Amino acid sequence: MLRLWGYSRRYLSRYLLGGVCLVLTASLAMSIPYFLKLAVEAIESGRPFTDIASFAALIAGIAVVQAIVRTLSRALIFNVGRDVECDLRNDLFAHLERLPVAYYQHQHTGDLMSRLINDVTAIRMLLGVGFLNLLNTPIYYAYGLTIMLALHAPLTIAALLPFPILLYVVKRVSRRMMEQTLRVQEELSNLSSAVQENVAGIHVVRAYQAEDVAVRRFARSNDALTDESLSLARVRGQLGPIMRTASGLGTLVVLCFGGTEVVRGKMSVGDLVAFIGYLNLLAWPTMAMGWMLSVVQRGRAAMLRLEQIFSVEPAITDAADADATPAARIEGAIEYQNVCFSYANGDTRSLVIDDVSFRLEPGQKLAIVGRTGAGKTSLVNLLPRMFDVTAGQILIDGRDVRSLPLRQLRSAIGFVPQDPFLFSTRIEDNVAFAIDDAGNGYAERDRRVREAAAAAGIATEIEGFPRGYETVIGERGVTLSGGQKQRLTLARALAASPRILVLDDALSSVDTRTERGILGALRAELQGKSSIFIAHRLSTVMDADLIVVLDEGRIVERGDHASLLRRDGYYAQLFREQQLEESLETS
Ligand code: UTP
Ligand code: MG
Repeated sequence: MLRLWGYSRRYLSRYLLGGVCLVLTASLAMSIPYFLKLAVEAIESGRPFTDIASFAALIAGIAVVQAIVRTLSRALIFNVGRDVECDLRNDLFAHLERLPVAYYQHQHTGDLMSRLINDVTAIRMLLGVGFLNLLNTPIYYAYGLTIMLALHAPLTIAALLPFPILLYVVKRVSRRMMEQTLRVQEELSNLSSAVQENVAGIHVVRAYQAEDVAVRRFARSNDALTDESLSLARVRGQLGPIMRTASGLGTLVVLCFGGTEVVRGKMSVGDLVAFIGYLNLLAWPTMAMGWMLSVVQRGRAAMLRLEQIFSVEPAITDAADADATPAARIEGAIEYQNVCFSYANGDTRSLVIDDVSFRLEPGQKLAIVGRTGAGKTSLVNLLPRMFDVTAGQILIDGRDVRSLPLRQLRSAIGFVPQDPFLFSTRIEDNVAFAIDDAGNGYAERDRRVREAAAAAGIATEIEGFPRGYETVIGERGVTLSGGQKQRLTLARALAASPRILVLDDALSSVDTRTERGILGALRAELQGKSSIFIAHRLSTVMDADLIVVLDEGRIVERGDHASLLRRDGYYAQLFREQQLEESLETS
């Protein structure tokens, strides 16, 4: 809640102006029954028609001005809600962008999206409509009660008797309305994830002929949504009748009790008319108050859910003593010293990387091989600090990666992940993703994109597309093959000319011949740069300066190709198997 104050404080002047408009609106509204009273009295005393007509004109004029001021007050106050909503959502997204990869391993995308959309909307309601009514109801009551008490005190008390009941009933109904709204939202998110999963997994659905099951499951989800929406409509429909009943009851009391007073000559007809007018003016704010209580509840619950996200610290940040001025550029010497690492999955903290040490000079090539699940990806993820080591340290040019500014560290490393991910934009933008355009011209950027594509062995294919580098990838454009995606992610990593290149099984989806071509082109790009290759196919790594074999997080063999063959261990065995396969294929 403190955070919300911080946001709304920026718009304090608009809140204040809106408040002034509210007071003005109330004053104008409250003057109407008074002029009505004067008009009735004029009729009673048989004043000429023109007098009465001028009262009517006055009342109409006040109503028009009131409508304008009222609109203004809504615009001012509701817009604060909308602006805070916008700020909050931006900050929330910026915060999410800073959170470590580990955070997302335990989050559902749907849940995060619902918080960014629904909960932030609840905050808008709280700060807009909620705040307006919080201000408005007391103003109306202060005005209305004072005048009504002055007109006829006992009648005021009698007329307001039904109001607490109204407040209570409206509060209950709106609580149910909120609960029902949440249920509808939940069903809606179920439905959208059903659609999303089925569209994304359409190949699997087809392959297993699960269409009927999917259709049935969707229908069930859709039915549930309809049921909940209908319930919501029913609850919402109760509000109007309740309000009319309550204000009708109040009017009934006033007519009976007040009517007798008029007959007994203790009250004028004009006062009675004015009284009924004031009573009706109070009905809406009373109801709004009841409704607002649930808006506040919902807003507080939403803020709690948002606070849960805000309270997550970006665990991997620049160390306090990280060098503010980046040292001379990174050369690319990499050293792992007794590195241990485990994913904090609940309470099982078994080591995924267990006491790994090696050293790589600038410009050298390291290869990591090992069976699936050995920890290869985990090992290289530690270098750009996707995760931090549990024990030991990783040094680049002799400095602990945790003491390097993140920006410098990460921009020095070109990373080709195991699952190629591309954004749904133009090929050119995907490849240029990491290029720091500042300073360099457009032509330079273009040149780098083309060079990188050539080195990744994808240039001719891109030029073969009708729209070339302008081709949009993904949902709105062409679909690429697995190998094409891999090579595009490689081009993206190369385009920024990083000092260190990490390829996590990045050529697994291309055939041996294409791979040979890419490796040839890469050799020039990699001149003087350090590189780490993870590969299952040993032809990719034979020429590495250092090859390490990883098993269950430990280095079990190390050396260059020749020495590992002499050792006759896992590597030698794997090499013989692959050679056999290759000779079978070519024969
Ligand atoms: P890796 O993902 O590091 O293995 O997971 P790898 O060597 O690269 O395997 P391939 O060749 O790509 O298939 C190492 C271990 O860490 C666990 C995995 O279950 C595996 O046992 N792991 C991985 C996690 O617990 N959490 C993760 O986020 C990733
Ligand atoms: Mg892997």
